[in-house]
Amino acid sequence: MKQPRHFLSLLDITAGEFRHLITRAIELKAMVRAGTLYEPLKNKTLGMVFEKSSTRTRVSFETGMVQFGGSAIFLSPRDTQLGRGEPVEDSARVLSRMVDVIMVRTYAHETLELFAAHSRVPVINGLSDLFHPCQLLADMQTYFEHRGDIAGKTVAWVGDGNNMCHSYINAAHLLGFTLHIASPPGYQPRQHLIQASQARIQLFADPAEAVRGADLVVTDVWASMGQEDENRERRQAFRNYQVDQRLMSHAAPDALFMHCLPAHRGEEVSAEVIDGGQSVVWDEAENRLHAQKALLEFLLT
Ligand code: CP
Ligand code: NVA
Repeated sequence: MKQPRHFLSLLDITAGEFRHLITRAIELKAMVRAGTLYEPLKNKTLGMVFEKSSTRTRVSFETGMVQFGGSAIFLSPRDTQLGRGEPVEDSARVLSRMVDVIMVRTYAHETLELFAAHSRVPVINGLSDLFHPCQLLADMQTYFEHRGDIAGKTVAWVGDGNNMCHSYINAAHLLGFTLHIASPPGYQPRQHLIQASQARIQLFADPAEAVRGADLVVTDVWASMGQEDENRERRQAFRNYQVDQRLMSHAAPDALFMHCLPAHRGEEVSAEVIDGGQSVVWDEAENRLHAQKALLEFLLT
């Protein structure tokens, strides 16, 4: 059996393919705006396994499939046999004999790898504890739309060295931007990921130093899904890492602000910044739809 093409992390695509997806996402967005009917996935089905909550990922994938002439099925452990202990391998084997592509949002990245290893069809990472590659497709599309190519630019990541941060590390490697990371001690991104992209990454103790001259400032929640019981200690550890107007003033004057959402105003970002003129978070959220349509088209046609 020919191995299907999976998208578990950004490193599953080449730099050229990443750029193609961005260009294509921008084209597909223009087509939707123009009312052009384009249905390359007629009669195709996307299975979506969600072990964690979601607003954007679910709605963007489901809407994308409808726009492409196909359909999507939402599957949660609460009401599938996955939640009653049916092995991941068996679930992957069965689902992939029926649907054409599968998106999985889960905790351990190894679950996703296990799922993919037993799937006959492409598996897409809709977020794991390690990576959130679909979000990076949207973030990069958004940067390209507003400012052009990101190669040679500087991006500042302020906050948790989490799944989003890890995907930024991969994106820096592929698209050729410099990534400044400011995370509190104990919350830094995984060492092996930093090492693999060392030439592009700089770690900073002081968020202001990380943001200095940056073209894009990005942050994310202090406690990710599954870390709710660490809320108190994290709030303490991250208290000096809020992206507020004062921190943004160190960035380039035309710097953009991004956040994958959902956001906690008054924690990782001030209301003034996320609702202010440099913030492109709504475009970023919308682009999940267009970027993932580009990905589905790429994997399936
Ligand atoms: N950014 C993101 O993935 O949002 P959801 O959790 O709402 O899908
Ligand atoms: N880091 C966050 C991203 C949510 C889209 C989480 O994993 O909860």
